[in-house]
Amino acid sequence: MECEYISTLHIERGMVPEERKSNNGLIISFEDRTYSYLNCKEPAIQNINLAISPGEIILIAGPSGCGKSTLLRSINGLIPHMYPGNSSGKVSIDGSSVDETSITEIAKKVGFVFQNPENQIFMFSVERDVAFGLENLGLYHEKIREQVDWAIQLLNIEKLVNRAPHELSDGQKQKVALAGVLAMKPRILILDEPTSLLDPFTALELVEIIKKINQNLGVTILIVEHRLDLLINAATRIICMSKGKILFDGEPRKVLTEKKLPRIGIGIPTITRLHRILNEEKPVFGKIPLSADELATNLKLILK
Ligand SMILES: Nc1ncnc2c1ncn2[C@@H]1O[C@H](COP(=O)(O)OP(=O)(O)OP(=O)(O)O)[C@@H](O)[C@H]1O
Ligand SMILES: [Mg+2]
Repeated sequence: MECEYISTLHIERGMVPEERKSNNGLIISFEDRTYSYLNCKEPAIQNINLAISPGEIILIAGPSGCGKSTLLRSINGLIPHMYPGNSSGKVSIDGSSVDETSITEIAKKVGFVFQNPENQIFMFSVERDVAFGLENLGLYHEKIREQVDWAIQLLNIEKLVNRAPHELSDGQKQKVALAGVLAMKPRILILDEPTSLLDPFTALELVEIIKKINQNLGVTILIVEHRLDLLINAATRIICMSKGKILFDGEPRKVLTEKKLPRIGIGIPTITRLHRILNEEKPVFGKIPLSADELATNLKLILK
């Protein structure tokens, strides 16, 4: 059953089920997309093919400079609209080509949270900041009020509404940035290293919020995150990139069996490493664990 949020979006944006059928049920697709920044010979992403269904949580991993942010910018339209360059192939959102859709139209469907929340905090109060994107869309005041209140409650930041954003901690700023994006009720949420400035506790808190947004609202989520262990349990899929290309793309347990990961600069979670070592000793050591609890269950069976 579709959640209320998605149904409301269909009505608001005139989406009908037929429209979905014409995209083969995909919310994002890349068809052989290659892109090079202006004056760069080497493509930043190369021959990317991706088919993403609504409601997935996708973790994108890869060493610095491998093209993760470029891939994300290709979805929210910054590429090619703000970063002109050379491209071939196609990226589509809901069946519409990103190249042929304005950034404003794309922004109604795709929310983007930057690594550094300073980059998307503009106003003098948290409340005004959360409303910023909606005001730019020229919505009615009542509608803005309703969506801002909803996002503020969702992120549990009611106490911050009258504070000045630049006075907040990094974790609080990240939540304000996320509230501003969610207030626009995007169907796709993209987060580029959202936990890099956060302490482990606040990072976990953010991960819980991300899971809630996905589970309760059906939002499709793509996250670039170096710490795989933070999200491995929530992700439906991991995409591993190297030198502008996708090397592995699949269900987390399957991708984590790839022996090449450390060699291409992707640090595997400690529990996975431990499982690998134990499995070498005793090859019947259960399936790859995605959490410490799962590892403990495996161990208990062995120690019985
Ligand atoms: N604005 C730009 N102009 C020119 N080249 C760029 C630009 N942004 C990125 N690049 C280049 O494109 C390639 C991919 O960069 P990108 O930022 O997508 O990598 P990344 O995987 O996100 O890295 P990181 O983990 O460090 O954020 C790199 O070679 C980078 O130098
Ligand atoms: Mg990046």
